[in-house]
Amino acid sequence: MEMNPQDIYQLIAPELALVEEELLRYTQSEITPISEIGEYLLNAGGKRLRPALLLLTAKMLGAVSPMAIRLAAVVEFIHNATLVHDDIIDAADTRRGRPSANSHWGNSMTVLAGDWLYMRSFALALGEKNLEVLNTLIDITQKMVEGELLQLTYLGRSEVTEQQLLDIVERKTAYLFSGCTKLPAIAAGMNHGSAERLAEIGKSLGMAFQLVDDLLDLTSTKDVLGKPVANDLKEGKMTLPVLFAIRNGNQEDTLKVQSVLDERDFRFVDRAEILKLVERSDGLHRTRELAAEYASRAIHMLEEFPPSIFRDAIVRIPEFILNRNA
Ligand code: IPE
Ligand code: IPE
Ligand code: MG
Ligand code: MG
Repeated sequence: MEMNPQDIYQLIAPELALVEEELLRYTQSEITPISEIGEYLLNAGGKRLRPALLLLTAKMLGAVSPMAIRLAAVVEFIHNATLVHDDIIDAADTRRGRPSANSHWGNSMTVLAGDWLYMRSFALALGEKNLEVLNTLIDITQKMVEGELLQLTYLGRSEVTEQQLLDIVERKTAYLFSGCTKLPAIAAGMNHGSAERLAEIGKSLGMAFQLVDDLLDLTSTKDVLGKPVANDLKEGKMTLPVLFAIRNGNQEDTLKVQSVLDERDFRFVDRAEILKLVERSDGLHRTRELAAEYASRAIHMLEEFPPSIFRDAIVRIPEFILNRNA
């Protein structure tokens, strides 16, 4: 069946509207900058991919309970908290097409607002009085922090391995996606095995999502993406497309990449030159292939679940992840 992203979001439109209400309600604080920063980020939009995935999974498994709505708000909340901190770490000046919170409020206020958003997410989750839910969310959040930290330990190093980079991708992004497919299973009272199978589906989608994000950092523009581009290398971070390029390229290519990592800028070697060498050495193509492999894995695993329009919708998500331009 033909489905475009709008059709997919349409399937869960009423539930997503409830999630938005929940998000705004939980951003309220008597401390003005907290509500301001929280609302600023939420009002700037964002794809709401994580709550959408959670709601579609809940529907595929039966129905969307009030608990699933609240959990969809929780995952978006955690995501927003992560973005707030990530932009401080990456010194990013733009997010969702607007000045980032850190460039607007400064690092000190923004880091605290991020902490507050995390704690609010957990307070929201605590209301479910479900230890498995809480355990899953804590695990995910720890993994995300570990991923960001691990990335910092490799800063400026071009000699990282594929496995090390995939480990970062898994922790910083894929685990939260795994929560989006696992939490509805817990909410529906499914057994541990089924919940873990669902978690694997989300994790594969998350791997594909971050690999494409790393591609877009090299190939897209700030206007389209709504966030800085070519920022990864400039912050000293290696990504898969650049690693594949180095692996297939010559020594000169490695030196060029290392020069950007050292300089943390594109003055000696410009961005176009890096893009050219990544293209020439098939780095873009190979990263896309790897993302496609993760996507196929998710689609394949979805076949275990009874067919429905909601399952069809989730099956289409990889295509949008792989072809997205923002
Ligand atoms: C950005 O996520 C952070 C990554 C994990 C790459 P999204 O691209 O989902 O950001 P929004 O929510 O749509 O702004
Ligand atoms: C995503 O990594 C990390 C998070 C989990 C927020 P990036 O640093 O690539 O995300 P963007 O590109 O800033 O959205
Ligand atoms: Mg970033
Ligand atoms: Mg990125």
